[in-house]
Amino acid sequence: MVRSVQHEMLATPDHDEAARQQFVVAVKQHLNRSLRPANRRAFDEQAAPAWEREHGRPPENRREIREAMLANRHYRTWSTLARSAQELMWDSLADTLARERPRLEATAHRIMADPPRGGSLNLDPAFEVPRGMAKVEVHLQPGGYALDLGPDDVLAGAYYESGGNLYAFGQGIGRRDSKAAHVQGFLRDRYPDLELRRILDMGCSAGSATVPYALEFPEAEVHGIDVGAGMLRYAHARAEALGARVRFHQMDVAATHFPDGHFDLIVSHNMMHEVSDRTRRGAMRESFRLLRPGGVCIHQDVPLRFEGLDEFRKFDLSWDALYNNEPFWEVYATADLRSDLEAAGFPPEEVHTGHLPQRQGSLPWYVGTARKPVA
Ligand SMILES: C[S@@+](CC[C@H](N)C(=O)[O-])C[C@H]1O[C@@H](n2cnc3c(N)ncnc32)[C@H](O)[C@@H]1O
Repeated sequence: MVRSVQHEMLATPDHDEAARQQFVVAVKQHLNRSLRPANRRAFDEQAAPAWEREHGRPPENRREIREAMLANRHYRTWSTLARSAQELMWDSLADTLARERPRLEATAHRIMADPPRGGSLNLDPAFEVPRGMAKVEVHLQPGGYALDLGPDDVLAGAYYESGGNLYAFGQGIGRRDSKAAHVQGFLRDRYPDLELRRILDMGCSAGSATVPYALEFPEAEVHGIDVGAGMLRYAHARAEALGARVRFHQMDVAATHFPDGHFDLIVSHNMMHEVSDRTRRGAMRESFRLLRPGGVCIHQDVPLRFEGLDEFRKFDLSWDALYNNEPFWEVYATADLRSDLEAAGFPPEEVHTGHLPQRQGSLPWYVGTARKPVA
């Protein structure tokens, strides 16, 4: 099923480019769904016995399992192919984006000069991109999230959305029916009385989760913040092209410039696994400061959590940290979100952490959520 959101800012592949991109999706699906599960058998039947012969005991933790698996031919082949497929994915977009770049820049330029929905873009020339984001090409995205090539540049956003569409195995980065809709369902169930006048999306990237808030709550003022100017220009033009009024700002989630008590709802979607402990805790403190009494924060992310998993599964999930430029993958997998929210000031009885119920075809997203007390 292809459910990529269609809009004027989306780069459109020609026939040959689309064929190449579909090929990459098929390779990634095969590697992930067929070959990756066989790593477990390679461990049980080959790597673990070999390691035990050498050390006189079985490997006991994910580091020893990694050592054992790095000597295993099946695992090395899978791992090399998985890395190559990820590189191939970005390569397969290069021609499309090079060809489409002038059109995307011209479209963004036109929209930014006179945004039809009345949204805005607030870039900060003095902003210093946090080092972790400036230096790392997260999951190998060319130039990284913070790439900025000049006043009309939108390449980081274009790469993020087109790459995300392929990364999600061709299923799209979402509009109404994915992460944001899931969190909105949770919001309605858990906080049905919450009045929404101002909403903030932290770490909004290309705005794939921000736009659904603006469409679902058209009376509310919706803000999105992120670090990269190229990403934010794209997000702004994309939101306008989708008929959504959003105010985008270049700000650090751990040190925003909004006044105290400014928001009724603060959300983040897949932001926490991209940041350090320090930044995540800073974002939780900002959530407490920026919420009005009675306001709610919901921080959603991938179900990459180590609690309750066996050591092999932890090893398996750590692949992205080592080979896919996800430096904070394990930091998030072992983070204690409840402690972070309580340390930020939320009372324990107002904090909830756990998996959201899965809907058909969806991931069991993980959330940390809290309400600021009224008195
Ligand atoms: C995986 S993306 C988030 C995806 C997006 N929310 C969505 O649903 O598509 C993580 C984002 O967090 C942003 N980010 C990382 N550190 C940040 C910081 N300190 N302040 C603001 N944004 C940050 C990155 O630039 C990146 O765009």
